[in-house]
Amino acid sequence: MKDFLTELLPKSYYTTKDPKGKARARKLARELLLVGKDNEDLIKKYLEILIDNGLPKMKNFKPKKVLIVGAGITGLVTGSLLKQAGHDVTIIEANANRIGGRIKTFHKNPFNPTETPPFQDPKQYAEAGAMRLPDFHPLVLALIDKHNLKRQLFYNVSVNPDTGNTSGHTPPVVYEPFDGSGAWKYGTDNPNWKAPEKVNNTWIRTNEIQMRKKDYNDPEHIEKLNKGFEMKGPDLRKTTSDLLNEVLDPVRDRYSDVIDGKRVNKPFEQWIEGWASVIYDFDGFSMYGFLKKFAKKKNKKPLTDNEIEAIGTIENLTSRLALSFMHSFLGRADINPNVTYYEIEGGSWMLPYAFLPELYNNIVMNRRMTHIEYYDPKRNPGYTHRFTSAKPGEKVSVRTLSETKVSDGKYDHEEEIFKADHCLITIPFSSLRHVSVSPAFSYKKRRAIIELHYDAATKVLLEFNQRWWEFKNEAEWKNGLKEVKKAMGKEQYDELKRIWMERDPRRINAKPIISNYVGGGSVTDNPNRFIYVPSHKIPGSNGGVLLASYSWSDDARRWDSMEEHDRYLAAMRGLVDIHGWQAAMFYTGKGKTQSWTQSPYAFGEAAVFTPGQMTSFHLDIPTAEGPVHFAGEHVSLKHAWIEGCLETGTRAALEIHKAL
Ligand code: FAD
Ligand code: ARG
Repeated sequence: MKDFLTELLPKSYYTTKDPKGKARARKLARELLLVGKDNEDLIKKYLEILIDNGLPKMKNFKPKKVLIVGAGITGLVTGSLLKQAGHDVTIIEANANRIGGRIKTFHKNPFNPTETPPFQDPKQYAEAGAMRLPDFHPLVLALIDKHNLKRQLFYNVSVNPDTGNTSGHTPPVVYEPFDGSGAWKYGTDNPNWKAPEKVNNTWIRTNEIQMRKKDYNDPEHIEKLNKGFEMKGPDLRKTTSDLLNEVLDPVRDRYSDVIDGKRVNKPFEQWIEGWASVIYDFDGFSMYGFLKKFAKKKNKKPLTDNEIEAIGTIENLTSRLALSFMHSFLGRADINPNVTYYEIEGGSWMLPYAFLPELYNNIVMNRRMTHIEYYDPKRNPGYTHRFTSAKPGEKVSVRTLSETKVSDGKYDHEEEIFKADHCLITIPFSSLRHVSVSPAFSYKKRRAIIELHYDAATKVLLEFNQRWWEFKNEAEWKNGLKEVKKAMGKEQYDELKRIWMERDPRRINAKPIISNYVGGGSVTDNPNRFIYVPSHKIPGSNGGVLLASYSWSDDARRWDSMEEHDRYLAAMRGLVDIHGWQAAMFYTGKGKTQSWTQSPYAFGEAAVFTPGQMTSFHLDIPTAEGPVHFAGEHVSLKHAWIEGCLETGTRAALEIHKAL
């Protein structure tokens, strides 16, 4: 297959003689698409293990002593599978107080009623990490159902709450494998179930021009918003989403076809070959590099700088333009207004904690791995093993320290050494970077641990005592403001009003802005960048916690540099820009921030490749190093999604279970 992209490439998959490079690209494509050895569908296989049957029964089964490092979702899922299969499992976790890792909810601690809740209203909770689960991630959705947790819709796009029918149970989880082995299903149908209608009432505000997302669909509004980016020319009346799709479609055409307006995968071999060509040809480029070098619009013209700036701002690419093309290209399918998402009622934290009753006696908290030694005389024949040997239960040894305690002015960490037959490392490579390893892992694994790029992500959450974004008319605003005025007293109200009015770009306009939406995200070029309102009211609570800013990369670092108090004021300023001074009057004074770069347990948000990293070392990340195995978000090719943790966790559990 040749397309205009091939012509632009000095060496393309379709023209070059590079059997090794092509074979690697094909392997990566199979890894990405979860195609097993005999072309089996690995997602279906993992569903059958994780949800239906557990690990397979083995002849001459001998239980193994398994040490799992990290009690994030990967460690917990793997621990559960291995324990149920009869292995002797220990999970060590650096955090002294919490399991779940990057699944973290700010919520009232049910295990310690004396702990101050994060928000003024103790019923309120909000996500610091994972919050939305696409309907095409069957492992995580079925796992939630299996643990009898309640799934509800997460509205990435605002909805009309008076439409749809979400009573009764959510629809079953259905997975259609590519290998023709028949659909996999968990749960029962609910024929009456219907998601509410998406209305796209949330805001876009860029270059001081503000409109509803739904209006950024009619030509005049599009032109108005695009002119803010000083765009010119014939494509002024195209949305940034359409422009981006236009230039990405030739890449999609390599592995899929448009049939009746829908993207359908090409037949099996061409599907894999198409993806292999995309990886081979474009993994070496950043998204910016792709947009500058290869992007051609339908009129055969390249994108202008202004068009790239508009696309970056509105389609959430700006902060990642320098990162790998592959990451953002894949990500566009995951976060998209057409996708249906779910969330867990009560908060995402409930998923990792659902494993607690089963694994309570297997988890050792407050144990940070600082050194690992494994027995593998083949690896480095000259190496003298200090702690490990070929004896059962002694093949891996992990040195751990507790969190810092200060006694008599001295730092004190309690040391403890754990030994096992196999060790599964689930901690991010950004954290593993600080662990010493003997004997050294293979060269490419070392490169991956050193180089794998982690993105930054920061969430700034603000609590409000009323959900003013849902107000439908001026009367509701009037009543709401009257109530807060009464509660805080006229003097304080007037002072706050004066302060926030000064900030409001429309300060002379005293009328409130009627947002009138339930759920959904707004986008702005002010520092807040992406703003999400909660999808559901929390029973018994009038207020709501707003994700006032969810940002990545440099956008996130801008928040990390600030002091706590200043950050909340700044986040509120961003909201006032869009919603008017009135919104600030409902702030309870309680905010919460999660910076994943500053987390001493995560050392970053998630693995996000820089150009070339996928090709350079991804295939070397999942491979075991003697008795040391690897799983987790970064081991998958679904970076920053729980689904990837479950895929790699199930794979690693099987690998350890079957190991001799
Ligand atoms: P982790 O959760 O990081 O678990 C690793 C564990 O190891 C942690 O508990 C950590 O404390 C511990 N640890 C670290 N170092 C050591 C050490 N040296 N010794 C012992 N223990 C150690 N996914 C979705 O599906 N949907 C979303 O909407 C979504 N949004 C996200 C938003 C943000 C901001 C972030 C950060 C992530 C999001 N994700 C989302 C991704 C998802 O949260 C992660 O992929 C997943 O939680 C990672 O699980 P893990 O087990 O691989 O790693
Ligand atoms: N699962 C994450 C979310 O829903 C995706 C994060 C991707 N992160 C990134 N830096 N590209 O928000």
